Amino acid sequence: MNNGKLFLEIIKNKFIQIMSIYNYTKQQNCKLSDERYTPRYAVLPILKYIPKGSIVWCPFDTQNSEYVIALKEAGFEVEYSHIFTGQDFFTYEPKYWDIIVSNPPFRRKRQVFERCLNFGKPFALLMSNLWLNDKAPNQVFKGKDLELLIFDCRVHYNELNQVPFGSSYYCYNFLPKQIILEDIKVDKKSQSRMYKDLNFLTKC
Ligand SMILES: C[S@@+](CC[C@H](N)C(=O)[O-])C[C@H]1O[C@@H](n2cnc3c(N)ncnc32)[C@H](O)[C@@H]1O
Repeated sequence: MNNGKLFLEIIKNKFIQIMSIYNYTKQQNCKLSDERYTPRYAVLPILKYIPKGSIVWCPFDTQNSEYVIALKEAGFEVEYSHIFTGQDFFTYEPKYWDIIVSNPPFRRKRQVFERCLNFGKPFALLMSNLWLNDKAPNQVFKGKDLELLIFDCRVHYNELNQVPFGSSYYCYNFLPKQIILEDIKVDKKSQSRMYKDLNFLTKC
């Protein structure tokens, strides 16, 4: 492909991506409550539990997600998908993958966990500890071992640094023990590079 064609292809792909984000957020009435992205310091602690050679699917992530970036740096093959690019987790599945790692949308937690458990493959999903107050995890994991990687400090998803809940990885068939307590090094200035995807929508 010559340089001109390559340039047009890049512009076309960018345009498609921007329109997908625009359409998605319009459809959501610009409620961006799901758009809380995970900082790198909350991604790193899960990496050591992923078996070498796994193909990791990040189903709520773009190329700018700290999951995608850190997993690739650690040498994993990564499949990533996101509603912005028209890949709805509830209908889309990559052809090859071994394990799911991500932070899912908070608003459809129950359905996300049900679908993950139905796949029958290992997963680790970052989720609010408040969810344990709900009956949903009890019902969804009934008869299955819910594993928890519990952090000592709260994860700050944006620059406001006012997160009213702690977060843990809710896992299945993933951790060496059912409960692991882990210290994290919080860096309140660290923000996910995935916020770049939303920059142009800030005036929405
Ligand atoms: C809590 S955010 C976390 C994003 C990213 N995984 C991270 O940790 O930085 C959840 C993301 O899932 C996206 N999302 C919502 N519904 C989705 C769906 N049905 N399929 C794929 N992505 C979805 C949201 O737009 C949002 O960007």
